[in-house]
Amino acid sequence: MSAEGPATRRVSVAEHPRLLKLKKMFNSKFGSNPKFYVRAPGRVNIIGEHIDYCGYSVLPMAVEQDMLIAVEPVKTHTLHLANTNPLYPDFSTSANNIQIDKNKPLWHNYFLCGSKGIQEHFGLSSLTGMNCLVDGNIPPSSGLSSSSALVCCAGLVTLTVLGRSLSKVELAEICAKSERYIGTEGGGMDQSISFLAEEGTAKLIEFSPLRATDVKLPSGAVFVIANSCVEMNKAATSHFNIRVMECQLAAKLLAKYKNLDWDKVLRLEEVQTQLGLSLEEMLLVTEEALHPEPYSPEEICGCLGISVEELRTQILSPNTQDVRTFKLHQRAQHVYSEAARVLQFKKICEEAPENTVQLLGELMSQSHRSCRDLYECSCPELDQLVDICRKHGAQGSRLTGAGWGGCTVSIVPADMLPSFLANVHEAYYQKSDRSSARENQNLFATKPGGGALVFLEAQTM
Ligand code: GLA
Repeated sequence: MSAEGPATRRVSVAEHPRLLKLKKMFNSKFGSNPKFYVRAPGRVNIIGEHIDYCGYSVLPMAVEQDMLIAVEPVKTHTLHLANTNPLYPDFSTSANNIQIDKNKPLWHNYFLCGSKGIQEHFGLSSLTGMNCLVDGNIPPSSGLSSSSALVCCAGLVTLTVLGRSLSKVELAEICAKSERYIGTEGGGMDQSISFLAEEGTAKLIEFSPLRATDVKLPSGAVFVIANSCVEMNKAATSHFNIRVMECQLAAKLLAKYKNLDWDKVLRLEEVQTQLGLSLEEMLLVTEEALHPEPYSPEEICGCLGISVEELRTQILSPNTQDVRTFKLHQRAQHVYSEAARVLQFKKICEEAPENTVQLLGELMSQSHRSCRDLYECSCPELDQLVDICRKHGAQGSRLTGAGWGGCTVSIVPADMLPSFLANVHEAYYQKSDRSSARENQNLFATKPGGGALVFLEAQTM
């Protein structure tokens, strides 16, 4: 993996309507011109849901929608943040003392996460002040990772202001870690693809060490994103962190059952690696070692031979302290089977048999069923949308991102795209008040986009 950092491009702002508009807005807001711009894309995860934080590979691609920030470093030690979307109010803070309020997932906190990550990485006691105007076009709370794109964009803004450099992998790791300041224990997929994406290819993202490999998607199919219009902000509820904890507890119980040093085990992947078994064999071990009935904290303590107090203080995270039931069997079943589906998906893309699109579609639909039934991260609207997409020609369809709302991704034979879009539009959007001016933002075909970039304005004569 190269140690290359994100690219810097010289552009003529006058020729880029979005940059030009942002420059004008920046000027009327701050009374000066931006010195540079940074963009970081959102992503759609094609397959491999809720397994990155268990140590398993995922298969996302960047979307063209992104966060774009116009930046001007200033001499005062103040960070001024503004957003082109009037729903997001201005925010200012001293660059000497960045505080992130975990209890309020407000937009500017994601920016602060990215900045703080870079500051800490270089051991700096304070940051340079800056004026920033943010312009995002990734639908928020839709599972397309608008929040991570903002964290990554802010990380790269801060790095650029400091005049330092880091590789894309380092940036991704820093931003994955620093986004956890907001309180969700995400796994690193979103930040990795935001930096490591390349136009024209999806990526297999592997962890420990972080690396990305090209996955060539079939040319005869199109990936279509459809928004269920149910908003889910994963930092505003504890669903996400409960799943992370259930996976961790399942890993510990499996490790204990197999006489491993369970105390040190945190991820389901570690159990597999230590046992030297295949994913299919891990499914059998799960069947043997865990029961489908939910576990109470007391039963977990009994299995591990620890007190409830030890469970609370040494294992449970702050927002899982009061959880009364943990579903360990179902979560581990999902994770091991989903990890296997990712590898199968990649293999089919490489081998490209005649029925590639159908086979990939089947894996995507299996993934959705597993998310719905075993991981319980779907919702009735997502299930309905997946059914509608299947009915109108998708070879496979699934929720994408954290779930509990947000978007689906479907694989659609290229020649069926126009009828697919028209029919899904009619069946899901038109028949409800979901149809709106945002039609194209709710249902659209997407192609693998490029990763984060810095733009400098080319000098005009
Ligand atoms: C969120 C997290 C990711 C990943 C997905 C679910 O997007 O940030 O790390 O866990 O959910 O696959």
